[in-house]
Amino acid sequence: MPTLFDPIQLGDLHLANRIVMAPLTRDRATPGTDAPHALNAEYYAQRATAGLLIAEATQISPEGKGYAFTPGIYSDAQVAGWKQVVQAVHAHGGRIVLQLWHVGRISHTSLQPGGAAPVAPSAIRANAKTFIEEPQSFVDVSEPRALETHEIPRLIEDYRKAAINAKAAGFDGIELHAANGYLLQQFLCDATNHRTDQYGGSIENRVRLIVEVLEALTAVWPANRVGIRLSPWTKFGDIADSDPVATFNAAIDAIDRFGLAYLHMIEGDTGAGRAPDAEIAAYRARFHGAYVANNGYNGALAEARVEAGQTDAVAFGRPFIANPDLVDRLRTGAALNVGDQATYYGGGAHGYTDYPFLEHAKAA
Ligand code: PHB
Repeated sequence: MPTLFDPIQLGDLHLANRIVMAPLTRDRATPGTDAPHALNAEYYAQRATAGLLIAEATQISPEGKGYAFTPGIYSDAQVAGWKQVVQAVHAHGGRIVLQLWHVGRISHTSLQPGGAAPVAPSAIRANAKTFIEEPQSFVDVSEPRALETHEIPRLIEDYRKAAINAKAAGFDGIELHAANGYLLQQFLCDATNHRTDQYGGSIENRVRLIVEVLEALTAVWPANRVGIRLSPWTKFGDIADSDPVATFNAAIDAIDRFGLAYLHMIEGDTGAGRAPDAEIAAYRARFHGAYVANNGYNGALAEARVEAGQTDAVAFGRPFIANPDLVDRLRTGAALNVGDQATYYGGGAHGYTDYPFLEHAKAA
């Protein structure tokens, strides 16, 4: 019977244990360039005992940005910044993949090149807020414009270039962000996709963009180094579908054909309640690769699920913010540090790299 602390293979990725650090937006890239820097490298290196680190959602292009100070992977400065991060993680014996992100309509004109409208499958504004840089504040997201059909190849090319850049930065793999109501889920779900071209209407058409992006990514990376994240139950970003089971069954079947490293599932409403076990099991059964579970896990639930064979690995989000040595703490049953929500997003080292490790806690 495998435990949470046993090694596992996710495709071609070898993990020393089954504890994964979920991608976490921390809004601490370099202002102006959106490039990672030394402090980000220290933060990830501190957490390198996780079996796998999934680096925070990272915009594939300026247009893909939706929040203040999130990192990108489209410029030379960003590649150089990520290289520092990856080298630090590898020096600490860790593995790290990059999550490729396009927010679609969850953005604001002030974050977009030339102050333009954010792009989306259809011109339907989300009932959602974002945090902007000028002035630093929470605001309603902007009304998006619908992408023209002839722009889709350029969008796919942006993903392909980001995948090439992730390779140049030395990452162990990439994860395609198709969850949480961002661009790819906006195309997948019918509340946000009212298109009449080959990317809208039927479920097959709504799945098409994810498939074409995966084709591009797997031309750059071996498929067994590429993961994907889905969130069939989430309401995050004002996302909805009239028949989620049919939509996500079709999406999973299409994804399954690629032979990816793993499927990373947000098992419920993002950061909130968990989905019914039977629904989770039904989706998982459709996918033949490794499965990474996420959302609302604590150590006990993670251990039970791994030992019962219900998941291959478990991704923890918020517990990793406050516990760089989460793996040791779960292994030893030590108490967890409590995160300070005021420092989750933005700022410097405080609330980022200054959470105590177990040894320090004991010495104090
Ligand atoms: C966020 O920045 O709030 C965010 C980013 C990516 C997610 C979820 C939330 O998947």
